[in-house]
Parts: sequence; C-alpha cells; structure tokens
Amino acid sequence: MANIKLRNTGERLEGQERVAAFLQEQGVLYEHWDTSKLPEELRGNCKINDEQKEQVLSIYEEEIKSLAEPNGYQKWDVIALSDATPNLDELLKKFEQVHVHTEDEVRAIVAGHGIFIIKGSDDTGYFDVELEAGDVISVPVETPHFFTLMDDREVVAVRLFIDPDGWVAHPFKDPEFAQN
Ligand SMILES: [Fe+2]
Repeated sequence: MANIKLRNTGERLEGQERVAAFLQEQGVLYEHWDTSKLPEELRGNCKINDEQKEQVLSIYEEEIKSLAEPNGYQKWDVIALSDATPNLDELLKKFEQVHVHTEDEVRAIVAGHGIFIIKGSDDTGYFDVELEAGDVISVPVETPHFFTLMDDREVVAVRLFIDPDGWVAHPFKDPEFAQN
C-alpha cells in the first residue's frame, strides 16, 4: 500500500483511506491491483525477461483494459529496472529531474518499489508517494513530478500511454523545489 510524505513538513500519511483521500484531493488516480494473481516466480522478481513481461500483461489484462478504456490509453508495456539494468545510475539521474508531460503518467507497480515526487495542486508543496507492488498511480497531465527508486533500487511496472511517442518529459524549472 502507498505511503505519502509531505516534503514541506515531513508529515507522513499512512493507511489506505488516508492515502486514497489525499491523492483524490490532489487529482491523482490511485488504485490497487491484486498481486496474488502473480505466479510465485514473478512475485518480487525484478529481473524478468521479455516473455515474463508479456506474462505480466496477460495476467493483468482485465485491470489494464478497465483503466485504459475510460481514460483513452491506447498502448501499454512493462518496464523492469534492477542492478541488472545497464546504466541504472545514469537512468536514475535522468529520471530525477522535475518535469511535466502532455499526457497522464500511469504506472502500476508489479514488483519492487518506486517513488513519485509530485507538486501538490495547492500550497501543499511537493509530496512523495512511495509505491509498492499492487499500487497503481496516474500523475495527471502537466503536473510537475519526477520518479525515483527506493532503497531496493528495483521495480517492475506496467506503463499505459495514450501515445508512447508523445510521452516526452518537458523539464519544469521550479524555484520552489528543493530536493531533500
Ligand atoms: Fe514523468
């Protein structure tokens, strides 16, 4: 289940209801997929091959379609990052810059962990959404954010796109943002 940390105050929000209510206020879609649907060898496994990525998509086909249809997502794939990923540090450096997209950024965490750091829609400031397997999030279009890994430095996530070619990161320079 996701946890929230507010960067301005250091306050942590925990518990399904509190986290879901906060994200709803912020216009961030949040839902949960059942990780018990994964076979044993895929649970917590972030070093998966292309065939296993296809397997993940077929296991969650129903969940993907019910997310895609009302929101117009046309394509989906699976990304896996771990210490088996060449240039992981370089990739993370690239990810860890505040940016926006011209479409929603949708991620369903299947294994490992990830954090989205998102700019709040009011005077909340930036907040961290710490995600674990089963957590599904959609960062709304044009909302400043970035993504990074947690201490385990590995993740498997399903990504949904309206147009993968249009999924470009536009840097967002924000004097308010101080990384901590
Ligand atoms: Fe992004």
